[in-house]
Amino acid sequence: MRPLPEYPWESLKPFREQAAQHPDGVVDLSIGTPADPTPAIIQDALAANTDAHGYPPTEGSVQLREAIVQWFARRRKTAGLGIDAVLPTVGSKELVAWLPTLLGLSGDDLVIHPVTAYPTYGVGADLADVDSLASDEPWNLDGSTKERIKLIWVNSPANPTGAVMDTEQLRKVVQFARTIGAVVASDECYAELGWDDWEEHVPGLLEPAVSENNLENLLAVYSMSKQSNMAGYRASFIAGDNQLIAELTNLRKHAGMMVPAPIQHALTVALGDDQHVQEQKDRYRRRRNQLKEALTTAGFSITHSQAGLYLWVSAEDHDCWSLVEKFAAAGIVVGPGSFYGPVGENNIRISLTASDEAVAQAVKRIPQVL
Ligand SMILES: Cc1ncc(COP(=O)(O)O)c(C=O)c1O
Repeated sequence: MRPLPEYPWESLKPFREQAAQHPDGVVDLSIGTPADPTPAIIQDALAANTDAHGYPPTEGSVQLREAIVQWFARRRKTAGLGIDAVLPTVGSKELVAWLPTLLGLSGDDLVIHPVTAYPTYGVGADLADVDSLASDEPWNLDGSTKERIKLIWVNSPANPTGAVMDTEQLRKVVQFARTIGAVVASDECYAELGWDDWEEHVPGLLEPAVSENNLENLLAVYSMSKQSNMAGYRASFIAGDNQLIAELTNLRKHAGMMVPAPIQHALTVALGDDQHVQEQKDRYRRRRNQLKEALTTAGFSITHSQAGLYLWVSAEDHDCWSLVEKFAAAGIVVGPGSFYGPVGENNIRISLTASDEAVAQAVKRIPQVL
């Protein structure tokens, strides 16, 4: 394992303290933690299944695995997965952080992740003691670097930018990975939150237009945290290559990290209900529209942000830290883009995961920020 730096979000503490001085209170738009209640049907499923005296099945209950298979068919244009092609996981952050280790990466092996990326992809490489490299076009790397690639992360819709990869872009990654025998892991946790051109469907790694009906070395990573307000449940899953799923399941049987039985029940119920997802999406749509309008009217630029829970925001002649400071002075906490790689130095990330009241406060204060 390589030493990890102090968790970057600690450096926001002074700005959070400054924002808290605002007479009408702090509005925190910096982190993507859901602010609305977990839907009642999910809470009820959890509450009805508190007798969990035996160990839960590592591979997931048959009902849960069938619910995951049906969800892929219904919501992700991916029909025909077997229940041996899916596996519940404790959170997807945990999976992202440990996947290189679980896949047995070592020595000169290399992990590729997007240029502007959720930092845990790099952390996973550090935990496995292998190198990681930020690249959106790994096919352009030199031959000896390409030979070392064992795992390629894609993240669409992306955190922090909200960019979406179309089927062609995803297929290109898959085709390249096949030439070098690398695993492609696609983190799709915002897939149900497409806006504008992506309202109806955000492409996924496993769908035939991308995978060409060959799931070898492909893993889709999904989380219920965002779409179902279940971040506290740590309820997630992976799906794809059944050989890889079998190996990961075997490892987990040895190492644990079983998803608790009451959570498996709640996850099964959540996956079977599309209505709460739609309702939550409608809430985020309203907040997104309000924040977008306030920001553009106040002179900010918004790029990408076509899906997911973030607006990727910049303002002429400001770097991310000067914007963080200006927002803090208005009692609003935002995330600096530099947390996600050097390309983000002039951007901030504004999250839609705040209550309606907090968003209304933000909209009121944004005109005074610049
Ligand atoms: C791209 C991405 N992947 C994974 C996660 C982690 O989600 P989970 O709650 O399942 O750990 C997040 C959370 O913000 C994320 O933005």
